[in-house]
Amino acid sequence: MPLKRSHLALLLAGSLLSVAAGVQAAAPDWSKVPKRNIQVFHAGVTPMEWITKRGAHGGGNGLRKGETCAGCHEDAGELNLDFERLAGKDLEPVGGSKTMMFPVAVQAAYDADHLYMRLTFKAPADAAAEAPREDKTPKHELKAAVMFVASKVPMANQVGCWATCHDDVRSMPGANKDKKKYIAGANLGDETFTDYMQWKSGEAGAGAMFLDGHVAEARVNKDGKALVKAEGVTQGGETTVTFTRKLTGEAGDVPMAEGKAIPFGIAIHTDRTVYRFHHVSLGYMLGIGAEGDVKAVKQ
Ligand code: HEC
Repeated sequence: MPLKRSHLALLLAGSLLSVAAGVQAAAPDWSKVPKRNIQVFHAGVTPMEWITKRGAHGGGNGLRKGETCAGCHEDAGELNLDFERLAGKDLEPVGGSKTMMFPVAVQAAYDADHLYMRLTFKAPADAAAEAPREDKTPKHELKAAVMFVASKVPMANQVGCWATCHDDVRSMPGANKDKKKYIAGANLGDETFTDYMQWKSGEAGAGAMFLDGHVAEARVNKDGKALVKAEGVTQGGETTVTFTRKLTGEAGDVPMAEGKAIPFGIAIHTDRTVYRFHHVSLGYMLGIGAEGDVKAVKQ
């Protein structure tokens, strides 16, 4: 059948559209983007109240003087934490993951409108039998999240996700089972919140999803407008999750721009675990055309 003019017009419009979309968010050539290993670990019950309590945690004073978690605990890409202590009954009454720590290779790139972040890791499947599990369908075996800390959160540049981690949050011993993580003195309109994007795996390729949320007075699992997509693949036991995010969004999206360094942390839930039974990183800086632990490459 000869191609009709109307068909031709549609074809042309279609290819123009895909060109335009390509300009909007073109995946970077990841082989040219350096990797920074960041360790994630099972942190037991060590909320901010424990971290800052005199006599409980040796780092409290240093933190008050402006030192960072990673400044004291990271050495040449390794963490100097006492994992026997972290797995012991005092700091982990339920029993945490057998694999206490694993590395996540982090890469980042940006263009005029977007940030691209890629996490590559081998997720252990040995979270403790007692840990609460995801029991919905589809089952999200694996979840990977990046949390950005807005600039006016207390100790934003020092503590990463710990800013949202409190002793009265669900799954902490004796806490209200409905209480979600929160920021003390939160203000969504004034840079006092954290912003997060999460990818969740699906079973047999179905059911994978992503979400763009924030934490202010409470954690909200939606409403973010910055995340364009998150894609994950697992091959030979190695998972790669790629986030494409607009540099700016709306309320609850940490505004980013070239020249800025944004504090962030990573959390991976493996083995269908939920709540605090994740492996989490300390706080790091993402440099967007600026200094940082992870430097986003301009493209
Ligand atoms: C000034 C240095 C310093 C800073 C900053 C610091 N810590 Fe620590 N941290 C220590 C020391 C020393 C210990 C071990 C002894 C103790 O707990 O008193 C420790 C212990 C811990 C432990 C228990 C495991 C262990 O090795 O004993 C965890 C978990 C921990 N820190 C997490 C953090 C987090 C999270 C932050 C940031 C919110 C942080 N630390 C900031 C010095 C620091």
